[in-house]
Amino acid sequence: MLTQTDPLLRILAAASRSCPRSIVQQSCAPPARRQWHRSLQTGPVNRSQTPDFAFAFDIDGVLLRSSNPLPHARQALTLLQRLRIPFILLTNGGGRHERDRVAELSRLLSIQISPSMFVQSHTPFADLIDQTDQHDKTKMPLKDKTVLVCGGDGDDCRQVAESYGFTSVVTPADIITSTPTLWPFTSPQSYTTHARPLPHPIYNPSSTSPTHLTISSIFVFADPRDWALDTQLIIDILLSQRGVLGTTRSHSVPTQDHSASNVPLYFSNPDLHWASQYHIPRLGQGGFKAAFMGVWKETHRGIPLEGKTIGKPSQETYAFAEKRLVKHRRELLGTPKGETVGLRKVYMVGDNPLSDIQGGNTYLSPLGSVWNTILVRTGVYNDREIPPHKPTVTVDGVWDAVKWALEREGWPTDEIERQLA
Ligand code: G3P
Ligand code: MG
Repeated sequence: MLTQTDPLLRILAAASRSCPRSIVQQSCAPPARRQWHRSLQTGPVNRSQTPDFAFAFDIDGVLLRSSNPLPHARQALTLLQRLRIPFILLTNGGGRHERDRVAELSRLLSIQISPSMFVQSHTPFADLIDQTDQHDKTKMPLKDKTVLVCGGDGDDCRQVAESYGFTSVVTPADIITSTPTLWPFTSPQSYTTHARPLPHPIYNPSSTSPTHLTISSIFVFADPRDWALDTQLIIDILLSQRGVLGTTRSHSVPTQDHSASNVPLYFSNPDLHWASQYHIPRLGQGGFKAAFMGVWKETHRGIPLEGKTIGKPSQETYAFAEKRLVKHRRELLGTPKGETVGLRKVYMVGDNPLSDIQGGNTYLSPLGSVWNTILVRTGVYNDREIPPHKPTVTVDGVWDAVKWALEREGWPTDEIERQLA
């Protein structure tokens, strides 16, 4: 929280005091000026001047490089909070519970971020728990069926899936610990800390058990740590009889039977590269997917692959994010349900043309809001390449992005700029 001594508060006060009338009159129509001053106050905003624009910020390569805040990231977000301009953080990262990740981000950026303003790659999977399979006569919702969750560190992703409502979650660690021969190149010892007993034994030709482990869906929640083990496991389940691990399909299974027994595979993040601490972008979950698809191409025996990949740039993820932004905006601005002043514009600030910019450019908002995209040079993208998806504007960093958008919306920032220089 900003204290009276905080330089930014002084800047904001200075900006509002010293912003020459002419600049204010020029760049801020009367409503905006009143809005400018009003937003320095606390308490509900006068509805007639509710800011009808908002921001969605990518994390890696925009606000942080791994755990290191990027220049002016804190100031940019703090300014928007002080001006009560809504924003969310929208990342293809994941692997931990939203609550824990938000706590870490608040600490790293020294500002208060709440889960209501945060969407990570797998967050939309929470909407799938009540899904039922049209071929399944039991109509059992997905949350009560056994799913395989891959990726992330230790048991983190299982716990996230359980926090979403999935009640029977197994991980590669559980499977390799119960049947080490399933993948001879991984020592189960490295999984003992977080492996759990399986709900049912894994089928093998001499098994007498009446029930066997049956996987009804596979979720890649975050970047797998053992690409080889996870690839073997996923292939085994996709080529099994209706998800019964340890079985294979007879080559002569008639096609219509295929559709009834395909286990869907969900990826949460298509990013081939991401901006970590290392000076060259690293392979992301999209790298695992590409490697997996290479093996699948050689092994699928004509069996179709079902499922999908969410995460930016998918329409699903942007629609999920917009819903969260609208809800957060309503809570922040205290605007009643069925409000009049809708969300006219969203500025998507990102470092990856393939996910942030493509997603923002192609998103068709069912609410009619327009998404502008701002590409920054602090992450994956660098000027040596022509971005495959053209952003509304390209700027150096997150502060330049906020400044550009605020000025576009008629909010003066130059005084702040001078003070920050
Ligand atoms: O694994 C995270 C990476 O793919 C990108 O994260 O925050 O830049 O969307 P972000
Ligand atoms: Mg990024």
